[in-house]
Amino acid sequence: MTDLEQIVSDAEAAVAATADAAELDRVRVQYLGKKGELTAQLKTLGKLAAEDRPKAGAEINAAKGKVQALIDARQQQLDADAIEAKLEAEAVDVTLPGRNAERGGLHPFTLSMRRIVRFFNSAGYEVVEGPEIEDDYHNFEALNLPAHHPARAMHDTFYFNPNLLLRTHTSPVQVRTMEQRKPPFRIICPGRVYRVDTPDPSHLPMFNQVEGLLIDRETNFAELKGTVVDFLRAFYENASLEVRFRPSYFPFTEPSAEIDVQCVLCLGDGCRTCGQSGWLEVGGAGMVHPKVLEYSGIDPEEFTGFAFGMGPDRMALIRYGVEDLRSFVENDLRFLRQFN
Ligand code: DAH
Repeated sequence: MTDLEQIVSDAEAAVAATADAAELDRVRVQYLGKKGELTAQLKTLGKLAAEDRPKAGAEINAAKGKVQALIDARQQQLDADAIEAKLEAEAVDVTLPGRNAERGGLHPFTLSMRRIVRFFNSAGYEVVEGPEIEDDYHNFEALNLPAHHPARAMHDTFYFNPNLLLRTHTSPVQVRTMEQRKPPFRIICPGRVYRVDTPDPSHLPMFNQVEGLLIDRETNFAELKGTVVDFLRAFYENASLEVRFRPSYFPFTEPSAEIDVQCVLCLGDGCRTCGQSGWLEVGGAGMVHPKVLEYSGIDPEEFTGFAFGMGPDRMALIRYGVEDLRSFVENDLRFLRQFN
């Protein structure tokens, strides 16, 4: 029986030394398996006298039970350890700073459009949009640009057919609005426009425009000027920004002007960006031509209006001091991220 006690105490030490389920199973086989040490003890019973066998058998079985219990306890311990280790490995440290999610951003052209729209919204102008695929009538004719008018040459137009085209400016939205609404009203029309242009530092074949139109019983060029100057000073965040109205010609306005701002890079001294002139052109404007009102069914004796068209893309370029419009459309994220 000292043999049995020795075996049990060896088994106990072996069980305690196991580090995982596989090792524990080897110990189980070593003691309790078919060829295990305790199983071997049972086989010695045959050599004992018949009356000694029951007691010896019971003792061997008790020893087997003890070893089995040690193994079970160790198994439980190993399982608990494994869960503990897993929990520790998968633990979430809620005190760590969060991982930054990459956020998308708005394109600088969109930001520029929105700045313009926000200003005019606050001045009571309503946003109106029109189709990018236009007909000849709305894009040209109703704007006092009949067929063969020389000013059409300024618009290098993408045609689908002789009547259908990609709008070359947002001015047709003026026409569509005047056809549909009774004045007075004031609207702002942001959108994409198209011209057959090879991309260069100051031209893109697709670009943005924002059109403004105010129709009322009484308005005048001074009001147009005040509106545009206030807007440009807000847009460029410069309350003393110089703005210049240069006499010009548009068939849909009379009188007409082109709008320049003091070059924001050289502040008027003259540099490469402004072609040494000290001025940068940002749009056109004028008093709506009586014929344009008439085309859309508004009586020019009763109503008058002013209109302006600006280039948000160019205005963004000027605002950020970028030299080449094409940089905005090359989809280089390193460039675009700077504007968010
Ligand atoms: N539509 C003109 C263009 O794209 C810009 C423009 C000039 C719009 C004068 C106007 C305006 O409303 O009054 O060149």
